[in-house]
Amino acid sequence: TIHRDLAGRHVVITAGPTREALDPVRYLSNHSSGKMGYALAAACAARGATVTLVSGPVSLPTPPGVERQDVTSAEEMLAAVESRLPCDLFIACAAVADYRAAHVAEHKLKKTEDESGLTLALVRNPDIVATVAARADRPFTVGFAAETQSLETHAGSKLERKRLDLIVANDVARGDRGFGSDDNAATLLWRERDETRRQPLPLQSKRRLADAILDHVVERLP
Ligand code: C5P
Repeated sequence: TIHRDLAGRHVVITAGPTREALDPVRYLSNHSSGKMGYALAAACAARGATVTLVSGPVSLPTPPGVERQDVTSAEEMLAAVESRLPCDLFIACAAVADYRAAHVAEHKLKKTEDESGLTLALVRNPDIVATVAARADRPFTVGFAAETQSLETHAGSKLERKRLDLIVANDVARGDRGFGSDDNAATLLWRERDETRRQPLPLQSKRRLADAILDHVVERLP
């Protein structure tokens, strides 16, 4: 886009997976590549925004003009995001681990002598986007919903429960889009005059999809 329609705006974006330590050598994580969040960061910077990208562990180059802060766990990601607030727009694209180990072992966990299994105790991680959206000085807040079934029902309930301004729903059950892919399709859901409104966006590169999402956001930014 040639329009610098985000000039003067500060945007904070989370991207990639989080990694939750079990012991000094092992962790829980997921398959998020970070590509959608990095595409959004590149698009925001190209449109003139000041962009802070809070990134979990990914192997992607930092987009030009973007300030990147690397984090590992969900708790670190929340602290990094909170240290950058207030901002005008928050986009939560990270695939944050819902749980972390109740206790991180100080030394490498050992197999037992017998053949019995191992039970890990997990506790809930903080919900980063819900925490940001609950603030008195909340930015315009955009979440993502990656679902494998009942896409719009689940996305619609996340929109309300997390008090988001917009949710980007994408179907991750299909191999040609979503996780790890360079392409994605999505449906935008938002509330307007007590109704849930929807706008499907066709399959396209994540970079172009990022601009399509931002076109919608810019129209509604206070
Ligand atoms: O994991 P879930 O489907 O609930 O994620 C929906 C949205 O919430 C995404 O935008 C994700 O980045 C955000 N999220 C978060 N912190 C969490 C879990 C999810 O910010 N602990």
